[in-house]
Formats: sequence, C-alpha cells, structure tokens
Amino acid sequence: MEFKKRILVTGGAGFIGSHLVRLFVHKYPDYQIINFDKLTYAGNLENLRDVENAPNYIFVKGDIVSISDVKAAFETHGITDVIHLAAESHVDRSIEGPMDFVLTNVVGTVNLLQTSKDFWKGSEHVFHHVSTDEVYGSLGEEGFFTEKTPFDPRSPYSASKASSDHFVSAFYHTYGLPIKMSNCSNNYGSHHFPEKLIPLMILNIQNNKPLPVYGKGENIRDWLWVEDHVRAIDVIFHTGTIGESYNVGGLNEWTNIDLVHFLCRMMDDKLGRENGTSEKLITYVTDRKGHDLRYAIDASKLENELGWKPSIAFEEGLNRTVDWYLENKDWIEKVTSGAYQTYYTNMYSDR
Ligand code: NAD
Ligand code: TYD
Repeated sequence: MEFKKRILVTGGAGFIGSHLVRLFVHKYPDYQIINFDKLTYAGNLENLRDVENAPNYIFVKGDIVSISDVKAAFETHGITDVIHLAAESHVDRSIEGPMDFVLTNVVGTVNLLQTSKDFWKGSEHVFHHVSTDEVYGSLGEEGFFTEKTPFDPRSPYSASKASSDHFVSAFYHTYGLPIKMSNCSNNYGSHHFPEKLIPLMILNIQNNKPLPVYGKGENIRDWLWVEDHVRAIDVIFHTGTIGESYNVGGLNEWTNIDLVHFLCRMMDDKLGRENGTSEKLITYVTDRKGHDLRYAIDASKLENELGWKPSIAFEEGLNRTVDWYLENKDWIEKVTSGAYQTYYTNMYSDR
C-alpha cells in the first residue's frame, strides 16, 4: 500500500508516545507510523501490544543520539514527517546525572533536525517537537505561562528541553525546516512510569508503603489527561502553523499535598478501606533541589486558533487512571522489577 505519510514517532514506546502511536495507528490507516525508540527503562513495548500487528505500524529499535541509526530509519522508511517525543523525562534523575539528558534531549534532537533537513527537499513535511512547560521556569502565586513567556529553565531536565526547543526554532529560522512545537503541562493517565508523582502514589497506596511528599507538598502542578495531550498534538500536527509553538494545558492546578489526599480518599473507597487509612501513609521528605514552585498553562492560543479543548474532568481521568493501575498488575510487575528497585532505594531510602 502507498501510504500518504510515513511518520517517524520517536519515543513511541514511552508514556505519551504510546498513547500517540495508538491514536494515529487507529485514526489514520493511510499513514505509516514508524515507532523509533531505544527502549530505555521508560520505554516498554508492552504499552503497544494492541497495535503491534496493525498493517500501518512498524517498530524500529534505535537511538536518536546515533546519527547512523537516525539516517538508516529515514532511508529505509522514506520518512515524510517526524513527531519527536523521545527524551529523558524525569527531573529527579536529571538532578542525579544530567549528561544523559544532554545527550538524548539536545544531541538527539539536533541529529533528528539535521537528518530531516538533509532528507526533505521541497514538498510538504512537518517536524513536530513535543516539549514541556518546564522550559518557562517557575511561577509565583499569580499568572500563567503563554507562548511569549521567556524561557527560564531551572532543572537539568528543563534546561535540556529548553535547549532542544531553541535548536528546533533555530532550524526553522536558519534553514526553513518546517517545524511546529508544543509545550504541555504535567500529564497523567495509563502506562505512566511509576517514578512520577501520580503512578508512584497509586502504587504505594495500594502496597501500604510510605507516600513521599517533597518539602511541604505546597508545589503546584497543572495536570492534563494524556489522551487530551495526544489529541492536541494531532490537531497541531495537522492544522497548526509552521514555525509556531502552542501551549497545552487544562487549567487544572493542584498542590501536591491536596492531590495526594484526594488519591488516598479515592483509593480507600476502591480498596474497601476505612476512610482516612491511606492518608496515614503520607510522609514528608527532603525537598527536591531547586524545586519549581508552580506551573500553570494558558492554552488560549490552541483553544482559540485550533479549537482544541480538554475532554474530561480531572476526577474522571484520575478515576480511570487508578482503575487502570489496579487492573494491570502484569504491567506493573514488568516495569517495577529489576532496575526500578535500585532507583527507588537510591532516591527514597535516606530521604
Ligand atoms: P517517557 O520517559 O515515558 O518516555 C520516553 C521514551 O523515549 C521512552 O520510550 C524511551 O525509551 C525513549 N527514549 C529515551 N531516550 C531515547 C533515545 N536516545 N533514543 C530513542 N528513544 C529514546 O516520557 P514521556 O513522559 O512519555 O514524555 C514524552 C515527551 O513529552 C518528552 O519529550 C517529554 O519531555 C515531553 N513531555 C512530557 C510531559 C509529562 O508530563 N510526562 C509533559 C510535557 C512534555
Ligand atoms: P513529577 O511527577 O516528577 O513531575 P515534574 O517534576 O516534572 O513536575 O513531580 C510532580 C510533583 O510532585 C513535583 O512538584 C515533585 C513532587 N513529587 C513528590 O512530592 N514526591 C515524589 O515522590 C515525586 C516523584 C514527585
């Protein structure tokens, strides 16, 4: 079959990438989706069992830091477009060791940009770079991040993502590479690796383990259902303006401690525990170094220009997320055995 587009989705085996691959494989049978992923600790083909035999899906194991891996994928599959999600994504890991973040997030992104520039001549292409609101730094109690907010990254993770965003923009301005960018707030949903706040808390509540809240738990995050994020990428990829960036978020700010209390109450109900049981597991631990106080997104550009809106309320999304974790013990078993145990001990045992 002659496909209309052959899209290289990098990081398609990760949390957000797997949701995006699933959406595109089902919604666009006339596109070929080439999932290019190194399968680090965060990448898991279990996330994609339901699409692996689809006629328009291919998996390629590769490293974006290797220019030869990237070129081979472009040559073999005649790539027409890129949706770039591959990244080292966890702030705590970036504090422990920034170099993998520089390599994958900066060097890997430049390899993809360079290869796209070399391969794409003339006709219509899109390089969609997926990024984070963390590039804008930390807000005080008031205000929102807009697309015009100056970058002010504070963690090694956000510094590496900001750098990658600047390179994407530089390739547009310097070489005319047809890029689009999106900067999204914190995502939650199924298949989220349990180093991140929401899945970590769900698993610890289930297993009666301490719930490590950093500092006083007063930091604020703006949470968005992962399926709404991938719908936003779909809309921006297809109808966004070349050279523009779009903020993605759901006006859904929670302090960490309120969110953990909410999860405790929801899970007490689901697990048939007396109300208040899980809250006793809350343990305040040493704060994260350089912990950003507040993130909050103004997504009005995306809403007004491209007509995107979040589809479900946070309570409903969390409800579905908790149910997914309670029902998918095999997945949890797979991702938390081995290296995860060492990570968890190093990060939390003396905190
Ligand atoms: P994730 O850590 O769950 O997945 C990252 C994926 O990239 C994994 O499948 C991993 O194997 C792959 N990968 C890592 N290094 C690679 C390399 N060198 N070559 C090829 N593949 C590699 O991350 P996520 O949460 O799904 O985030 C995806 C993207 O979205 C990232 O760019 C992240 O910065 C961005 N983002 C995430 C959030 C969030 O809340 N999770 C919010 C906004 C933006
Ligand atoms: P995280 O899920 O790591 O996302 P990010 O740092 O990219 O926003 O953390 C979300 C918030 O939860 C952040 O303020 C740090 C906090 N946090 C805890 O309090 N305890 C934890 O064990 C983790 C992983 C995060």
